Amino acid sequence: MPMRREDCLDVSKVQPQALNSGYAPGAVARNLSTESRTGGEHLVMELPAGWSLPRGRNEADIDLYVLEGSLDIGGENWMQGCYGYFPAGMAWGQLQTAGGCRLLLFTSRPLAFEEAGDSLADAHVDRHIGRTNTWHLPWVDPMADIVKRSTWKDPDTGQEARPPGVLTKGLRKDDGTKEVIALTALAPGFVDPGTEHHPHNECLYLIAGDCYIGYTFDHKREDVKEDLVLTRDHYIGRPPGVRHGPVCSISGAFWLIYLADYYTGIFGKVDDWEERVNKYFASASFR
Ligand SMILES: [Fe+2]
Repeated sequence: MPMRREDCLDVSKVQPQALNSGYAPGAVARNLSTESRTGGEHLVMELPAGWSLPRGRNEADIDLYVLEGSLDIGGENWMQGCYGYFPAGMAWGQLQTAGGCRLLLFTSRPLAFEEAGDSLADAHVDRHIGRTNTWHLPWVDPMADIVKRSTWKDPDTGQEARPPGVLTKGLRKDDGTKEVIALTALAPGFVDPGTEHHPHNECLYLIAGDCYIGYTFDHKREDVKEDLVLTRDHYIGRPPGVRHGPVCSISGAFWLIYLADYYTGIFGKVDDWEERVNKYFASASFR
């Protein structure tokens, strides 16, 4: 089911809301997008210095990535860049943060916390992913990591490929839900001259760097955005079928991405891609 479309959301402009669903006072969250059927959300949660929460369970599956600061989970320190996955009904924590932190969360339904010592009997605790320090994972070719199918062909070999200059670190590749959570890096000077679209939700959070997107439009070309520029803490929520491209970056782009299925990319041509990309490279300064 589709995520709400967000083409270029400046997260700093989203109003933070208090988290009331069982959470200790002081926690706030900014909603980036919501999935229409399940109520699953993409959120940036902000926890103030000294905040804590007892051990408990959530009604939602939660992917958690530490954007900034650090969080203590059940006695383990999670520095920025740490990732983990907590299935619904599993007991985890307690949580505490000495200096405060900012977290990126992907949830399978609305958050609802209750204090508890033990997991529910039917919780999928086997799918839990513990603290993963993502800085130490190797970057790999997305074709060998998260890609199921791509219509882009390598001009030298004629083989199915992706425009060069992308690396990934798959963090959760779930054979049950089919979801993929991954870090993705676009090299400085990366250019993808065409548009792509996907038969699945594709959501991206820009952790650092810059990214230009020449066109974003739906399959009927009714809602067209041109010349979008994203910098750190911008977010894209794409339901299936939203065309996007050409894409380029001056300083490189470091994303955390959510795919509702393994990556399938369907590419299209853009006649004026070179003119658009050159205009961005000539005008924008990130040095
Ligand atoms: Fe895409």
